[in-house]
Amino acid sequence: MTVEALFPTLIYRALLLRVDASLNRQLLRECLQLREDDSAGRRWSVSHYPGGFTSYGSAHRMHRLSSTFDALRRRIDIHVRRFARALELDLSGRELAMTDCWVNIMPPRVAHGLHLHPLSTISGTYYVRTPRRSSALKFEDPRLSRQMAAPPRRTDAQREHRAWVSVPAEAGRLVLFESWLRHEVPPNVGAGERISVSFNYNWF
Ligand code: NI
Repeated sequence: MTVEALFPTLIYRALLLRVDASLNRQLLRECLQLREDDSAGRRWSVSHYPGGFTSYGSAHRMHRLSSTFDALRRRIDIHVRRFARALELDLSGRELAMTDCWVNIMPPRVAHGLHLHPLSTISGTYYVRTPRRSSALKFEDPRLSRQMAAPPRRTDAQREHRAWVSVPAEAGRLVLFESWLRHEVPPNVGAGERISVSFNYNWF
């Protein structure tokens, strides 16, 4: 007999920077400074990111505004190309490039509900600072809406068979996924502010 796994959902993870690397320390400073400077972002966050700060609705092209974020972009580019190869995407004739890049600061108890990243190809997050027990990034099985009458999976099922899979948020690390994949960040039970930079790549 043969059991074949078809239609895989790939999640890419990599170590990008050491936490004490100068680029990471500069990113941390600029993320915290942005929260001070970006009053439009603070207002937008009140209704779209309650309790936390995101520059998604305001300063969402940080790689164009800051040489520090552009240096991060250049490093992420390498991994996005690798991920595209792993996905066997045919990108001939057009380029996959970063379109959006924004800052997220999530204090304890703040959550970010289920969402996907529309109008994008590959999305991801780089973690700048993750206090102990910071909440993970939680992915949903994209077939879940078709499984209304399916039996539940065993609680000890392997990761690839689970309906929900969490990837830990670890400072210095990068997570990439296809932009259509729904995900959320459960309430942050960490001891302090969880700081990340999220981004979209699109295919032009
Ligand atoms: Ni997201």
